[in-house]
Amino acid sequence: MRDQHNGAVQTPRRSAGLLPHVLYRARAGGVRLTVQTPEAVRWAGDAVEYVDQRSLPHETIVRRAVSPEELEDAIRTLAVRGAPCIGVFGAYGVALLRSQITDEATFRAAVARVREARPTAVNLRWAIERVLSANDMLAEAQAIHAEQRETDRRIAEAAAELIGRDATIYTHCHTGSLATAGGGTALGAIFFAARAGKRPRVFVGETRPLLQGARLTYYELAQEGVDATLVVDSAAAISMQRKEIDLVIVGADRIARNGDTANKIGTYGLAILAAHHRIPFYVAAPRSTFDFDLATGRDIPIEERSADEVGGFGETRTALPCADAYNPAFDVTPNHLITAFVTEYGVLRPPYGESVPDLQLRPNMSALLSSG
Ligand code: MRU
Repeated sequence: MRDQHNGAVQTPRRSAGLLPHVLYRARAGGVRLTVQTPEAVRWAGDAVEYVDQRSLPHETIVRRAVSPEELEDAIRTLAVRGAPCIGVFGAYGVALLRSQITDEATFRAAVARVREARPTAVNLRWAIERVLSANDMLAEAQAIHAEQRETDRRIAEAAAELIGRDATIYTHCHTGSLATAGGGTALGAIFFAARAGKRPRVFVGETRPLLQGARLTYYELAQEGVDATLVVDSAAAISMQRKEIDLVIVGADRIARNGDTANKIGTYGLAILAAHHRIPFYVAAPRSTFDFDLATGRDIPIEERSADEVGGFGETRTALPCADAYNPAFDVTPNHLITAFVTEYGVLRPPYGESVPDLQLRPNMSALLSSG
């Protein structure tokens, strides 16, 4: 079959109803539950399999990436997306390339291709460097994946203190299972609250231009049975003014040492709106999203995407064919607009000049997992 998005010839598998699922265990309200979450990415021995997020929620297509070109393309076209998820995917991809390519220069060039596929989320670079420095690359990629599940579980647990019983929450873009290859970050925290018996109500910004909120966040919330309301991004202000939003929680793609945070375009505007309405603004992210080498957010590379994504809506062209557009995929929220970060090591509060560097000193998740 011909891939409708990039012309590559692949053999996708369709599943009619739910996504392929993986079972994992979570603790909610002191009760251990066994829950199902979609499996975004999977090691398949001779390929990395992934759910093509471009087709959701209407079609579930599982694809296989085998070559450097296919790995790069999956990330660049957002078939695989979300900062932690592209980290896990990139880690498996590098292990796969190592098993195929013996010539060192060719291998390095192939890895660079995957690593540079998207510039803003630091998780991709972090995961690839981790795999490259390991003796057993596949085992390291599998460890990164397993740690992500545990990391997400801990983030969700840590966020419990911030989400009240009947909280009305605003979120942006998509931070669920498909975005992390685990249980999700900001959205994982909302699922956890719901599983603990709370009754969150969630306002979901549609997230122009690629509609991750409308397509993926709403879909995952609906699957979980959480009360969700979709709004266009420009309805964020009136939602905060009239809908008694208690908190905003979003994810992140890269966080500088001072707490400045890159996330999906529109996040900065939401943070300003939240400050104006005196609504707490939380960022849920794993330590792998913190770039301790960057002093401030000024140096975070911001991906700029094609003007075509703005000049149309889905497949339909809306603007003049010649219309130019500025299409940054991310923006940077200054640290002073962020009430707290929720990480797998707990809630970090200002001053971030102290709490973020302190995060770097915590024991690695691999050490925590092996010590039980
Ligand atoms: O361009 P995307 O869809 O990859 O952007 C994703 C986001 O901005 C998410 O908020 C972020 O990666 C966190 S995912 C847990």
